[in-house]
Amino acid sequence: MRIAAISDIHVRPDGSDEPLVAEIRERVEEIAPDIFVIAGDISDHSKVLSETLRSLHIEDIPCLYVAGNHDIWFEEKAGLSSLRKYSHLVGEICNRNGFIHLPDQSYIDGKLAFVGSIGWSDYTFRRPELEIPEERYEEKEYQGAVWYDVFNIDWEFTDREATNLFNRKLVYDLSILPDEVTRVVYVSHHLPFKELTLYKDRLPWDFFSAYMGSTKTGEILLSDERVILSISGHSHVRNRIEKEHLTAISVPLGYGRPQDNDFTGLVRQAVAEIVIDNRDVRIPDFVEGDICRGLPYVR
Ligand SMILES: [Fe+2]
Ligand SMILES: [Fe+2]
Repeated sequence: MRIAAISDIHVRPDGSDEPLVAEIRERVEEIAPDIFVIAGDISDHSKVLSETLRSLHIEDIPCLYVAGNHDIWFEEKAGLSSLRKYSHLVGEICNRNGFIHLPDQSYIDGKLAFVGSIGWSDYTFRRPELEIPEERYEEKEYQGAVWYDVFNIDWEFTDREATNLFNRKLVYDLSILPDEVTRVVYVSHHLPFKELTLYKDRLPWDFFSAYMGSTKTGEILLSDERVILSISGHSHVRNRIEKEHLTAISVPLGYGRPQDNDFTGLVRQAVAEIVIDNRDVRIPDFVEGDICRGLPYVR
């Protein structure tokens, strides 16, 4: 089984990323996967999310999506709250464009299952030695640096409540898989393992690292021997770790765009090719690190 995976495309709303999206599609077709996975953060605009998924849909194979935090940023003019986007709209958009939104429905192919979640952060990735008070994380502001979800996620849950909710849902989704499922691929936007996060020993970077994920999600994955692979996004620094019975990777593209608009090199690095053979997971030519480093930043 061959999987093509990418996350964090962050498509610009002005149409200027159309060639980038076309290039991603071409690369996925070249890999010719059995399954195509996108781990969130296509756009804060549901219209752009919809158009992009339509462009990226590959005929005849399952195309799987999980929402990222940006995909559920509320849209005031359209009257769309984060909760409405997460619980209904992203799933509807996926269905309309030939994608399965994994948090709504796991995808099962014989003995192999794909289970998905947006994941969330409960500050378990924070660096305790920084001694930043809990309230700073809750307020998402420290010494003038702001984590933008504070302005754009309008649900009433605290981050701890949201993380707890999504983790409980993950436990449930794993518990109801059919008996014949012996291997599970977990797809999430936020990271399940601290070791996937890059710390830089400087602020505000290491303050923001607290928002990358939850160690409790990782504990759930490690407690289920069926899980052989975890694919995530959110952190824009790509990483790969091996942990007990599973391989965990993050597959973001990010906010960089080459000045000459030649996306070929960037896209080749961004789309991960993963080969699963029984419990064996191979990721040939996987590119780690920040693939947008040195490129003009578009946001
Ligand atoms: Fe992102
Ligand atoms: Fe994100």
